[in-house]
Amino acid sequence: MASRSIRLAVIPGDGIGPEVVAEGLKVLEAVAPSGDLAFEQTSYDLGAARWHRTGETLPDSVLEELRGQDVILLGAVGDPSVPSGTLERGLLLRTRFELDHYVNLRPVKLFPGVKTPLADVTPEDIDMVVVREGTEGPYTGVGGVLRKGTEHEVATQESVNTAFGVERVVRYAFEVAASRPRKKLTLVHKDNVLTFAGDLYQRTLKRVGAEYPQVSTDYCHVDAATMFFVGQPQRFDVVVTDNLFGDIITDIGAAIAGGIGLAASGNVNPDRTAPSMFEPVHGSAPDIAGQGKADPTATILSVAMLLDHVGAAEAARRVEQAVSDDLAERGALGARSTSQVGDAIAKRVSG
Ligand code: NAI
Ligand code: MG
Repeated sequence: MASRSIRLAVIPGDGIGPEVVAEGLKVLEAVAPSGDLAFEQTSYDLGAARWHRTGETLPDSVLEELRGQDVILLGAVGDPSVPSGTLERGLLLRTRFELDHYVNLRPVKLFPGVKTPLADVTPEDIDMVVVREGTEGPYTGVGGVLRKGTEHEVATQESVNTAFGVERVVRYAFEVAASRPRKKLTLVHKDNVLTFAGDLYQRTLKRVGAEYPQVSTDYCHVDAATMFFVGQPQRFDVVVTDNLFGDIITDIGAAIAGGIGLAASGNVNPDRTAPSMFEPVHGSAPDIAGQGKADPTATILSVAMLLDHVGAAEAARRVEQAVSDDLAERGALGARSTSQVGDAIAKRVSG
């Protein structure tokens, strides 16, 4: 039987990026036959190395090529030798904005057998999905600098929130909440201080919420949310929040759910007007690059999210189960290299 062909763009990137992506692809190739899928891969050389060589971050022609793909897998980009902001703005944020990745989806889930720094917490206590807005807030680059380098320097960095942008991410979050057993959606913001943006989020939550009577809603200031993530993580099921708050609270999420080596994410365009991009939450980890020490699990879980996105739910569950089984045994296995972890999980999905 002819398998379904999916055009996959791969951006290995810098540092541990290529190392973890190789393992993600290994698992993808191993699971593909069971879902009758064939991935047609194109690799893109983007990141610090390219910037050093050519001065380019994301050429227009490459962006156009990416648009023609079905889905993107990214490792990580960045290196201390590149001025801060160059690749973040020029490559990562540009991709998210241009491809309209208005949902940054970050599950926070404690798998059985994984160590959490929180005392007396079980996997039932940490199982949430953070829906972070991806195209607005303080990340748009609106603002500027005046009299730079003088005592009178003025720097503004505005938070942009549109009725359209807030509604679409809030609606997506309600859909996610409605599909989960607990059906609870918490808005995280700072509406007592950021009164204009917070109010827009609050009114939108109320208005859209009227269409989802089965979903209960809740509100939490972002500072309190950081406390509850650590003290009462079971409070949360689905969280919707703005771009900056989502960035920060999901690092706490990663920390409580076993660390950055396990945290997966998707930059999703739910309208499918452009390809979505899946990537581990972590960066290029230059401190451990090239040593085979990087944990590829976050990338492999991002591959599971990618599979879900392309409609291969069964393959996605297989990958998740394989990761879960691997994690449950990890404590007893001792140290393994990046490729040993990838091999073990690939073997489980194909076995
Ligand atoms: P990082 O996530 O790369 O590293 C933070 C710490 O976590 C390091 O000690 C690292 O060794 C460890 N770590 C990260 N991933 C790991 C893994 N898979 N297994 C085991 N340990 C892991 O964050 P950092 O150091 O702040 O940034 C390094 C570079 O990555 C910077 O250039 C930064 O801009 C970039 N970056 C890129 C991102 C992306 O491409 N989406 C996201 C975050 C940072
Ligand atoms: Mg971050």
